[in-house]
Amino acid sequence: MIVVSIGGSVLFSDIKAERIAEYGKVFDEHSGKVAVVVGGGKLARKYIDALRSLGGNEALCDYMGIEITRINALLLAQSIKKAPKVIPRDFREAEILLKNYDVVVMGGTFPGHTTDATAALLAEYVNAEKLMIATNVEGVYSEDPRVNPEAKLFEKLSPEELVEIVYKSRISAGSKSVVDLLAAKVIERSKIPTLIFNGTVENLKKALRGEKVGTEII
Ligand code: UTP
Repeated sequence: MIVVSIGGSVLFSDIKAERIAEYGKVFDEHSGKVAVVVGGGKLARKYIDALRSLGGNEALCDYMGIEITRINALLLAQSIKKAPKVIPRDFREAEILLKNYDVVVMGGTFPGHTTDATAALLAEYVNAEKLMIATNVEGVYSEDPRVNPEAKLFEKLSPEELVEIVYKSRISAGSKSVVDLLAAKVIERSKIPTLIFNGTVENLKKALRGEKVGTEII
């Protein structure tokens, strides 16, 4: 079993059916079980900002984000023939669906983190052999490459090193960490072999074939 996290910025910046179909095809063509967790993208951010302006607290904003990730999940599920058109609400529901389907798509689960952490927790829950995090940068850098263009891209890191990098980037203003801290901590505690890479269709295909792309966390 493989768990793939597809960041909202990778597939749902704007909603294009042809692009979603391209990703769906990759999962249909893969043999073996895959659980896919998708992010919220721009739409989630818009809704969260509006809710916050209306006085919604952060936990409620998280619930809003989760709803949007689930809407995105249904779109991707529709583009995958093998996948049920039902979006599990938690890991236990996902596990049940995975017994009957080769590919299951889900969104977020509960407040307090992003879908990278959802994917890491799901990988832990289903004892996945690998976690693949498709994002919008090439992998894990020594610093946020959008802030410092001199930042170094790592080929390989230990889970402990990932936690340290994520922790440091959280406290430097203006930078955004490549995965959230909870995701890094879950990867660390369960030693889940993880790949963090730029989620183009080509890279996703390579990653699913077992080829190395981005940064490997082992
Ligand atoms: P995302 O995973 O898309 O967050 O979830 P993001 O920070 O925008 O991720 P990138 O930039 O695409 O990688 C959208 C929002 O939904 C809530 C959070 O508020 C998150 O920011 N969410 C998502 C949860 O609270 N719990 C979840 O399990 C998933």
